[in-house]
Amino acid sequence: MNHLLSLEGFTPGKISSLIRLGKAMKKAPLGHSSKLRGKTLLSIFEKPSFRTRISFELAMLQLGGHAITIDSQATPMCGKESIEDTAKVAGRYVDVIMARLYSHEKLTKLAQNSQVPVINGLTDKYHPCQVLSDLLTITEKKGKLKGLKLAYFGDADNNVTHCLILGCALMGIDISVACPAGHEPQPGVMEMAKDASAGSKTEVMRDAAAAAKGADIIYTDSWMSYHVSESEKEARIKAFAPYRVTAGVLGLAKKDAIFMNCLPAQRGMEQTAEVIDGPQSVVFDQAENRLHMQKAILLYAMGLA
Ligand code: CP
Ligand code: NVA
Repeated sequence: MNHLLSLEGFTPGKISSLIRLGKAMKKAPLGHSSKLRGKTLLSIFEKPSFRTRISFELAMLQLGGHAITIDSQATPMCGKESIEDTAKVAGRYVDVIMARLYSHEKLTKLAQNSQVPVINGLTDKYHPCQVLSDLLTITEKKGKLKGLKLAYFGDADNNVTHCLILGCALMGIDISVACPAGHEPQPGVMEMAKDASAGSKTEVMRDAAAAAKGADIIYTDSWMSYHVSESEKEARIKAFAPYRVTAGVLGLAKKDAIFMNCLPAQRGMEQTAEVIDGPQSVVFDQAENRLHMQKAILLYAMGLA
């Protein structure tokens, strides 16, 4: 079995084979209906979700298995029971666990105490399933990964950004992260990217225009991630405003650049409506690909790929 908690320790070969498997799943969405017959996924959510919840449930259904989804608030794990006990009990019932938690350390504890594979459905630190499916989307749109340039704008001390930094370094994509002071990626992630990179560039800068210049992919994410308190909203809008993706920013990228956002998105915040609803936006392809990549991830985690 393989836990999938982050892209730490991943190799380019492992990512490429997951992309290949995701593509095969997409080609025949209902052609693998006995792969997980008799298997059950337990999904646990401490935070809200639309795409991750639906795509995992649907992936299990289409692979012939079953999915049980619970809100952590409705379980004793919110105070009455330790995460260690939750892990040990869950393994007596189900074959694989997907969890969306606040703390990455708590997810790690869940995995350490689990007899079945654990998949990270997003923590404050990492969102690997999102970035694996985004790499599938980029492959489809650009025909390759190596040698591309991705420019990321906005909140960079962020789960999606951290996985993008590692994923790009592993796959030979140059990444320029444009963000305000105090919202930089966590230093440990930058170190890991440096070690993982086989020559591609990873840079963090203040200058949004310089980051966008010549990019193949323009990427942004929410300024108000699920774990961020409403009380921070005003200060964040002020800090991130220079990093909003506008038509002007997109115009600095390559002519055929694509615009990505993992969603949920807010028009007028991290990007303008013109950008996200415009011809260069691939955000709904990204959302669809979550389903195809979840299937590949489930098979990989269960040692069936
Ligand atoms: N992109 C993503 O993970 O969306 P949800 O929060 O809706 O699951
Ligand atoms: N960074 C965002 C991603 C949402 C899928 C969040 O954590 O809310």
